[in-house]
Amino acid sequence: MTDFWIAPSILSADFARLGEEVDAVIDAGADLIHFDVMDNHYVPNLTIGPLVAEALRKYGVEAPLDVHLMVKPVDRIIGDFAEAGASYVSFHPEASEHVDRSLQLIRDSGCKSGLVFNPATPLSWLEHVLDKVDLVLLMSVNPGFGGQSFIESTITKLETARQLIDASGYTIRLEVDGGVKVDNIGRIAAAGADTFVAGSAIFGSDDYRATIAEMRREIASATG
Ligand code: DX5
Ligand code: ZN
Repeated sequence: MTDFWIAPSILSADFARLGEEVDAVIDAGADLIHFDVMDNHYVPNLTIGPLVAEALRKYGVEAPLDVHLMVKPVDRIIGDFAEAGASYVSFHPEASEHVDRSLQLIRDSGCKSGLVFNPATPLSWLEHVLDKVDLVLLMSVNPGFGGQSFIESTITKLETARQLIDASGYTIRLEVDGGVKVDNIGRIAAAGADTFVAGSAIFGSDDYRATIAEMRREIASATG
């Protein structure tokens, strides 16, 4: 039986009350905290770095931190996030000169490693590194901003990624990020995702607990 994880993206949280917001979504039933790192270089936006991850840990956040690096270069910042308390560290292959090395650096620093695929990035990047990846993250929007619409072609890409992962025999999470809502999460789960990032759908709702519960109901009914 698949263990489905909901990962609220704090990109849509109230940053002035970040600790409370993270406590609130964990209390509401979230499994891990999605942490979007943007550098105004690889993507056209600027967000948060290791200092904020460390501050959340010092505040008392114990939930896994799912760090999504949208930065270039990748390697130098990996150790900083590991020291700051990251659990997963994922990066975009186009942003790394040496994908295999970046994946190894993440694992060597004690974190789980993730490779992120933009909507137009082919899954072939996975072919020779499946043994070094703990998480495959398919972007269902172009990275840089919350609140964008889900790109439909992600559904068939998820199905292909699910087949690749299952055929590999490795334990790899399949995560989807961008435009995930209560009304499409069932279809996304049926296509093979087991980990769901949702920013605006959760933090933009009045009742985090009710929204996460509705998402879980949709996933359960779509995956039977
Ligand atoms: C986009 C980020 C996402 C973003 C998703 O570049 O990687 O994690 O927060 O936001 P929603 O769920 O609002 O599309
Ligand atoms: Zn993200």
